[in-house]
Amino acid sequence: MQRYHITQNGFVDQNQNLSRTIQTELIEDETAFAKQDNSLDEYKETHEKENLSPQIVYLMYHFRRFIGYQIMTNLKQDISYTLDVGCEISRKIPLYFREINDCNKAIYIGLDPIPTNTNRDYLFINGKFEGLHQFLDTFFDCLIFSTSLDHFPDLEAVVCEIRKIIKKTAWFFLGRATRSQYCWRINYG
Ligand SMILES: C[S@@+](CC[C@H](N)C(=O)[O-])C[C@H]1O[C@@H](n2cnc3c(N)ncnc32)[C@H](O)[C@@H]1O
Repeated sequence: MQRYHITQNGFVDQNQNLSRTIQTELIEDETAFAKQDNSLDEYKETHEKENLSPQIVYLMYHFRRFIGYQIMTNLKQDISYTLDVGCEISRKIPLYFREINDCNKAIYIGLDPIPTNTNRDYLFINGKFEGLHQFLDTFFDCLIFSTSLDHFPDLEAVVCEIRKIIKKTAWFFLGRATRSQYCWRINYG
C-alpha cells in the first residue's frame, strides 16, 4: 500500500513523487455509496455553482471566522494541516475555509469519497475517512466535519480513526446545518 507524507506543495509518496490529488479507499458498500451518489445533483447546485441561501452563506462565513481565529491563535507551529472530512465536489475551497489558507501557514486538505472533479484548487484525497491513517505518515492539526458527521453509519469507527490521524494537540471543528442554522463546537484539543 502506498503511503504519503503531506507537505504544503502536495502528497509525497515513498518514491518522492509529488501529487496534489491522491486516491485512497473508496466506499465499497453499494447502499452507502448510493446514498452519496444520490445527492450529486444537489451538491452540483450548492457546491459547484455555490447556489446557497443568504442564510447559509452568512453562517458559513461565521464558521470560517471561528475556524480561522482558532487556527491563528492556538497553533504555534509554522505550518498547520487541516483535514476537511467530507469536503464534497467543488474544485474551489469551501466558503468556510476560503482565504484562511491564503496564510501559507494553514494548509487545507479536502477528503471526499465521491470521485468527481478530482483536480482541485487544493490538496485533495479522494477516499473515505475510515482507515485513512493507513495511507498517511502525517498527523493533522485540525479536523473539520462540516455537515458530514451524519453521513457516517458507524460513529465508533469515526472516533477510532480520529484518534489515529490527529496530533495530541489537535483541534476539532464541527458544523451542523439544522433548519439552516450552523452550530459548532470544539470537541478535542
Ligand atoms: C452534506 S456534504 C458536506 C459538504 C461540506 N462539508 C459542507 O459543509 O458544505 C457531506 C459529505 O460527506 C461525504 N462523506 C460521506 N461518507 C464519507 C466518508 N465515509 N468519508 C468521508 N466523507 C464522506 C459525502 O460524500 C459528502 O460530500
